[in-house]
Amino acid sequence: MGAANSHSPGSVLTGKRIVLGVSGSIAAFKAVALASELVKAGAVVDVVMTPAATRFVQPLSFEAITHRPVVSDLFADQGRSIAHVSLGVDANVLVVAPATADCLAGLALGFGHDALLATALSSRAPLLLAPAMETLMYEHPATQQNLETLRRRGAIVIEPAHGRLASGRSGRGRMAEPVQIVEALRTILGRTRDLADRRIVVTAGGTREPIDPVRFIGNHSSGKMGVAIAEAARDRGARVLLIVGAVSVPLPPGVEVQQVTTTLDLKAAVEAAIRDADVLVMAAAVADFRVEQVASDKIKRTGDEFTLHLIPNPDILASIAAAPLVKVGFAAETHDLLTNAQQKLVKKNVDLIVANDVTAPGSGFGTDTNQVSFIDRDGIEDLPLLSKREVADRLLDRVLQLLRQRSSEIPSLVGRESG
Ligand code: PMT
Repeated sequence: MGAANSHSPGSVLTGKRIVLGVSGSIAAFKAVALASELVKAGAVVDVVMTPAATRFVQPLSFEAITHRPVVSDLFADQGRSIAHVSLGVDANVLVVAPATADCLAGLALGFGHDALLATALSSRAPLLLAPAMETLMYEHPATQQNLETLRRRGAIVIEPAHGRLASGRSGRGRMAEPVQIVEALRTILGRTRDLADRRIVVTAGGTREPIDPVRFIGNHSSGKMGVAIAEAARDRGARVLLIVGAVSVPLPPGVEVQQVTTTLDLKAAVEAAIRDADVLVMAAAVADFRVEQVASDKIKRTGDEFTLHLIPNPDILASIAAAPLVKVGFAAETHDLLTNAQQKLVKKNVDLIVANDVTAPGSGFGTDTNQVSFIDRDGIEDLPLLSKREVADRLLDRVLQLLRQRSSEIPSLVGRESG
């Protein structure tokens, strides 16, 4: 299962400016095939090579395919003003294929000593990485840490495959095939404005239940997951309302923000917001209980035991009707992840549950990455550890599918389709 790509071949890539970074690996020859596929699909491809890459493949090979000059020397006059800056700024996407261990280290640390690294530093475009190297180098903690750093910053990594490597040994480290890389580029570029004019309500952060004027019951949510979803939806053209509880990250520009404190506040805000919404995504960590009698003055220490009486809060998601609204919930679990999440799918009557093992390393509260599974009535899709931004985009790919299904099921929605 997975987010199907519904773009016809070539349509998404036509006219797109793709910078293809090539670093020094035997897999550089596959980058020639990749450049060829991209050009055939109508993309404008600028190739930037490291000095080591030019020892495997001549720049002329790329120039013959792309009909554009290759940048390989940071200091050479390429007939453009500071090529690495202009290429980086103008790119719709930067793909580094192959990305060697050395190149990944340079990207992670922000070095700019060759044309490829300097271009990457100048670019704010989505970054796609296709690592290629010997298994031992790939599995080395330094390389894995660099990959994690890059993922946290939002880079998308196409994992290398198992196969025969340059050393003659077999193992993991073979660069992904050009066809897979083209597919990933289609997905990344196809996301542009595919949610145009959709109204999406996202909840983020943690609710707080007051105990007295100075204390509350809260949780560890930083808001990063919900904020990433709001940002991704905004970047894809949606009109976003972000309803936030307590968060420890800056709130994103370009989205409407409403602040709430308690679960009851959140319920009221969500109920009002969904009246004209297409989608509700609840990533907020919501308190299931509140204090029955909130003290009006600070509770004093007496030395005796103190008992708080908690009463249940309403289940917001469960209380909201589904279709035509697309309803997505998260399930933060510490054990029996999939069983508990599947139960929530049914109990809360949502279209999709994002099962989140909040005890897994690099996953859950406060982290920049997350490891989740998507669960719907058709099955389970396990995702690898990804940046929260990439989880957000994968989630929105699924939301888009659901919106398209709704459009075909409900005649009154036909015509609102924009993707
Ligand atoms: O904010 P971060 O630091 O980035 O962390 C992200 C996260 C761990 C908070 C997020 O990925 C996540 O898992 N959010 C859901 C947290 C949660 O409340 O899970 P739950 O299993 O208790 O609730 C299930 C779903 O029902 C959630 O969508 C929740 O928003 C919703 N809910 C919960 C309780 C309630 N009374 N009403 C609800 O609607």
